[in-house]
Amino acid sequence: MQSRLQTSPSPWLRTIAAAGALTLLLSASALLAQQPAGDEAGQQAFNNSCRTCHSVKEGDNRLGPNLSKIVGRKAGALPNYNYSQSMKEAGFVWDHDKLTRFMVKPDEVVSGNKMQPYGGVSAEEAAKVAAYLQAAGGQ
Ligand code: HEC
Repeated sequence: MQSRLQTSPSPWLRTIAAAGALTLLLSASALLAQQPAGDEAGQQAFNNSCRTCHSVKEGDNRLGPNLSKIVGRKAGALPNYNYSQSMKEAGFVWDHDKLTRFMVKPDEVVSGNKMQPYGGVSAEEAAKVAAYLQAAGGQ
């Protein structure tokens, strides 16, 4: 009798345990269903729209120049990348706003640049990518 009581917990205790487990499960799936945080969304958009041609690693030029520390970098300024004449002569420093606009309409920011073929992104995505590039700047 004594040992039987110890091994089988009372029904209400079991109910509480089950409810606790259910709550945990529900909050875990709610977390999983959430949108990725800002950085992650920006990185994802970068991977989808830019990474074929750009790396954020210093010195790693692909079809396009590397975008390491691009925020605060002069446009067309890497010594070891063969920019178009228009990009070389753009004469400005990249900031969040310029980057965002360039991603949406490259030609409006640097007319005659050679970032082709490039499909463009929405303004919303562009802002996320710019934030990601700024955050990745220190690497
Ligand atoms: C199809 C290849 C391609 C894709 C995709 C692409 N780019 Fe480019 N990008 C280039 C090329 C080529 C250049 C050099 C342009 C020039 O010299 O006129 C460039 C230049 C740039 C520059 C100027 C860099 C500097 O040193 O001044 C920035 C900033 C840039 N790209 C950002 C992006 C971002 C952000 C995306 C994604 C939203 C993207 N690019 C997608 C090919 C690409």
